[in-house]
Amino acid sequence: MTARSRTLVVDDEQSMREFLSICLRRAGHDVVVAESAEDASRQLGGQLPFDLVITDLKLPGGSGLDLLDEVKARSPDTPVIVVTAYATPETAISAMKRGAYDYLNKPFKVDEIGLVIARALEKRQLVRDNALLRERISERHGLDRMIGKSPPMQQVFELCRKVAPTRANVLVLGESGTGKELVARAVHHLSPRARAALVAVHCAAIPETLLESELFGHVKGAFTGALSDKPGLFETATGGTLFLDEIGELPPALQVKLLRALQERVVKPVGSVHEREVDVRVIAASNRDLEDEVAHGRFRQDLYYRLNVVPIRLPPLRDRRADIPLLADHFIRHFAAELGRPAPVIEPAAMAALCANDWPGNVRELENVIERAVTLESRDRIDLESLAGLRSGGQGAAALLEFPRAGFDLDQALGAVERGLIEKALAHAGGVRKEAARLLGVSLRSLRYRLVKLGIEPAGAGEDGAESDD
Ligand SMILES: Nc1ncnc2c1ncn2[C@@H]1O[C@H](COP(=O)(O)OP(=O)(O)OP(=O)(O)O)[C@@H](O)[C@H]1O
Ligand SMILES: [Mg+2]
Repeated sequence: MTARSRTLVVDDEQSMREFLSICLRRAGHDVVVAESAEDASRQLGGQLPFDLVITDLKLPGGSGLDLLDEVKARSPDTPVIVVTAYATPETAISAMKRGAYDYLNKPFKVDEIGLVIARALEKRQLVRDNALLRERISERHGLDRMIGKSPPMQQVFELCRKVAPTRANVLVLGESGTGKELVARAVHHLSPRARAALVAVHCAAIPETLLESELFGHVKGAFTGALSDKPGLFETATGGTLFLDEIGELPPALQVKLLRALQERVVKPVGSVHEREVDVRVIAASNRDLEDEVAHGRFRQDLYYRLNVVPIRLPPLRDRRADIPLLADHFIRHFAAELGRPAPVIEPAAMAALCANDWPGNVRELENVIERAVTLESRDRIDLESLAGLRSGGQGAAALLEFPRAGFDLDQALGAVERGLIEKALAHAGGVRKEAARLLGVSLRSLRYRLVKLGIEPAGAGEDGAESDD
């Protein structure tokens, strides 16, 4: 059953407009009428798109075919039925070629037009359902799920869009919790392989002895417990994408076999003498510096080159702080919705603490902190107190939020905070102490004293000649 829809009926003959209106209204649809091409054009320019347009071929002030073009330009999914009294096969063909849904000769019977209208609206509904479904799928798996307005993340999204349609192997690199798996899923779902599976293998989680048969399969009797043939994950992923997570953990013997699978596009199940063809796109991820692993002989260079056709590097969260407020808001709304509560408001001081934090666990850590705050918070605000326990790399107030039960050495703790802030200021100032002192709101003399006191600099060392006190 199709839902109530809006149809535009265009005809200069009043009797025809009335006839079609009656047919449509009887079937439960809304009707808007127009008597000329100009009138129709005005109606098409309105807010709501029509679900169906029925137009006469010959209109005062224009032709039905031009109107057809206009409909197709404005809302390509709206079916157009063309009716005429002057039928020639040529006009019919030209109308269909220009995208008409159907073509009817006057005079026609009620049943005839009724059927054509019902079919056209049904098709329109199908197209719409399909579009909705697609939207929902891409929302769940595509880039829409990834938050990030910062330039480095925009570059990551751009790269994902570019590489997705190809079958190039992709290597996703980044610290833990930066969103490597999300990127792998987005690339898969934006690719022509989206209809097939994305098979994820966590190379570090599977014991080495099992990994080979997991990846490449085995034949019956290949080892104790191999009671039947079993296809590997490569074969399971055929037509789709294989996501090899923590590729840096792959044992050397399997690195050779993986290389062969990538080069020859074949796999040999454990215990088999025959190779099987596989059609798989591989996306690998690692939080290790793979180049460094190669340099130290822990990862094969040839495999590295094979996998690293297109590298996508995810920057750590501390290098894209502009995204922190967006991510925080997103997670607050997400977890509140999950709990069926209105989203709490986050106080500026709390947001500032989130932005100042270094997030060694990146987005995942931020997500966990927000989840805990939203879950435990019975009030409608998130303040500094709700964020108690924020792990921090010596970032001022945030570092002091959690008070250890066993107590601590105040001087030592303050010293650590002071040192962290001074080192940061020096880094920001590019090592120029005068500038660092300005950033910290202390005199240069005071900064020098602290540098020595904290052991950052030996007494009397490193006088930059250009600088003078205050
Ligand atoms: N840009 C982002 N927008 C929204 N959520 C994100 C984003 N990046 C990461 N996340 C979320 O953070 C969590 C960690 O992401 P993901 O698992 O993709 O990271 P990872 O790099 O694979 O981590 P690991 O190296 O620990 O496996 C997930 O819950 C993910 O949904
Ligand atoms: Mg991961």
